[in-house]
Amino acid sequence: MNNKIILINGPNLNLLGEREQSQYGSITFEKLKDICQDKSEELGLTLEFFQSNVEGEIVNLIQDSRKTFDGIIINAAAFTHTSVAIRDALSIFKKPIIELHISNIYKREEFRHKSLISDVATGGIFGLGSDGYILAIISMQKLLKNEN
Ligand code: DQA
Repeated sequence: MNNKIILINGPNLNLLGEREQSQYGSITFEKLKDICQDKSEELGLTLEFFQSNVEGEIVNLIQDSRKTFDGIIINAAAFTHTSVAIRDALSIFKKPIIELHISNIYKREEFRHKSLISDVATGGIFGLGSDGYILAIISMQKLLKNEN
């Protein structure tokens, strides 16, 4: 069955609800996690929802995901703009990858305009707020069912 997905959150996303509400809205990380779990269940997906502030932990997890998961949704947060290691790990994962950002990174500071992971991802969602998480789960389900 092609239904095991992992949603990886990078640094500082654990502080959603507290950090820069003008960029990221008021939803808390815990609430977002609950909504994502509910949506995944509704769509028949098994979701692992993960967050780390540590680059190497994310690299290890992406490597391990090769064997365990059918798709990766990733909001790599600040590592999006800096991490060749996360990019390289993603490029080894030969299954669907969705890049996700809450804010519109292209409307913000110039250093956020460059993503090191967009061209190794299947597709991406940005600037749609926390709804982007739900949209990413819906899109991933379609990718896994080849309905996209
Ligand atoms: C972010 C955008 C990044 O530039 C930033 O460093 C984040 C969150 C987003 O979801 O909009 O931490 O990935």
